[in-house]
Amino acid sequence: MDTDKIIKSAESVRAAFPAFHPRLALVMGSGWREVADGFTVKHSLDFVDIPVLGAPQVAGHGGQLLLAEQGGVELLIFAGRRHWYEGAGWEPIAFPVCLAKTMGAQGMVLTNSAGGINARFRAGAVMVIDDHINLMGTNPLIGPHHSFWGPRFPDMTGVYDADYRCRLDEAGKRAGLKLEHGIYMAVTGPSYETPVEISAFRRLGADAVGMSTVPEAILARAAGLKVAGLSCITNAAAGMGQALSHEEVLAGAKAAIPGLTRLLKEFVGVV
Ligand code: HPA
Repeated sequence: MDTDKIIKSAESVRAAFPAFHPRLALVMGSGWREVADGFTVKHSLDFVDIPVLGAPQVAGHGGQLLLAEQGGVELLIFAGRRHWYEGAGWEPIAFPVCLAKTMGAQGMVLTNSAGGINARFRAGAVMVIDDHINLMGTNPLIGPHHSFWGPRFPDMTGVYDADYRCRLDEAGKRAGLKLEHGIYMAVTGPSYETPVEISAFRRLGADAVGMSTVPEAILARAAGLKVAGLSCITNAAAGMGQALSHEEVLAGAKAAIPGLTRLLKEFVGVV
């Protein structure tokens, strides 16, 4: 990963909006794109026009950077995200984290759609990520060390900020939404899991599985940003329900959009 190249691109966005001071960066994962419509957008940039970031390759993932505002709080919203399985390397995945830090944000909210491994979770449930298991078999910090990402061996105790997790619960109450808590397992995809993999993941302690979030969480934590993670459980994981499809995942998230929008608006009001 060429961190200097990512910083240069982030600095060009910073220079274009010198009066914009986001408190938080929100990354809207699969199916979460419409949540961004709940915020007041001041400026919008297409991912394709931002060097390093580029366009996501997946239907339903959108691709705009929004400079937005909610109740006087400025926000960077990534309406869409890049994934490792696209094969474009770590740079587009690291860009949102780099921009959040460059623009002085205190933290990031990383959202995703995930398969429910915990049998208690129904489609449409929203899970606060308490911790993760990185089963991607790789790590975005592999390669020459760059001081932008903090120490060579960053601590990953408490990746998901305890204060943010409490505040998500508070925001959930205000939004009238019952939140689950659990452990997110990250895999590379793009194939979905086999039923046997899912039972193995359950034994390892995972409550939900997905193909994102963990790389950004590692980078953000390493770079000294606070992190919150939210999974919308869009389907029962492999072997626990019907055969999986991307369409089912998007449909599962769609039904949850109003609740997710209320949750994030309330969260912005309490951090
Ligand atoms: N597995 C992996 N990623 C996912 C799933 C799933 O079941 N649902 C949404 N993203």
